[in-house]
Amino acid sequence: MDKILEVQNLSISFAGIKAVQHLSFSIERGEVLGLIGPNGSGKSTTVNMIAGNYLQDEGDVIFEGQPVSRKLSIARRSRLGLGRTFQTPRPFGNLSVYDNVFSIFLQKYNFKDADVKTMEILELSKLTPLRALAASQLSIEKRKWLDLARVLATEPRFVMMDEVMAGLNPNEMLSSLDFVREINKRGITILFIEHVMQAVISVCTRAIVLNEGRFLYEGAPRAVLENPSVIEAYIGRKKNAKN
Ligand SMILES: Nc1ncnc2c1ncn2[C@@H]1O[C@H](COP(=O)(O)OP(=O)(O)OP(=O)(O)O)[C@@H](O)[C@H]1O
Ligand SMILES: [Mg+2]
Repeated sequence: MDKILEVQNLSISFAGIKAVQHLSFSIERGEVLGLIGPNGSGKSTTVNMIAGNYLQDEGDVIFEGQPVSRKLSIARRSRLGLGRTFQTPRPFGNLSVYDNVFSIFLQKYNFKDADVKTMEILELSKLTPLRALAASQLSIEKRKWLDLARVLATEPRFVMMDEVMAGLNPNEMLSSLDFVREINKRGITILFIEHVMQAVISVCTRAIVLNEGRFLYEGAPRAVLENPSVIEAYIGRKKNAKN
């Protein structure tokens, strides 16, 4: 088995709140691994530690067999092939759709090659007809796709998708799921965070469940959702939210 990413004993606290505690898991190359859990269970925080936005208190991130130094910047991690989307998309609103992607390729390629690669990614993301619009003019769905297109422009081998389906209607979700599968078919390993379980079942081969910052369970998505401790974590969370 070829592990693309491994996290070992990852922990972080914010002012005494233990957001993630002693978390260990690994992802096989080519896999779409689901990361699920109730609100506040530590999913985005985990992504933030792997991507370099947050400095973990303890634990290690190992990417393609190499330990990622705790202090390695977000940009350097991205250059290693490690990409992520944000729960709230962050394209540059005043730039055109085309320029949002082109500006990233231009960091690595000459003008002509950057143009060819940009057109390729826009086609894959079904954004070609919208390429002249400012990013701020896009619908939520298309903004999310542009966010993904920008991540793809960094030519990652591994992408963490943090709730890319949130706020989409059922039809938009179906086309987004196709997009996720297409990205995976191109050889990109995916960590897929999502609350809509149907989406997790439809794209993931395996899922990991977090609860209150800790690893709770791991297995095939359907089995995970039928597990009593997972059901309890979700129901317990809802009860607490009501009180
Ligand atoms: N920068 C921060 N400062 C303080 N607390 C934080 C910070 N980031 C996360 N937390 C806390 O860490 C815990 C885990 O949050 P996180 O955002 O990782 O959850 P999540 O599983 O992504 O939730 P959701 O499904 O709602 O997106 C929460 O208690 C949250 O308030
Ligand atoms: Mg989150």
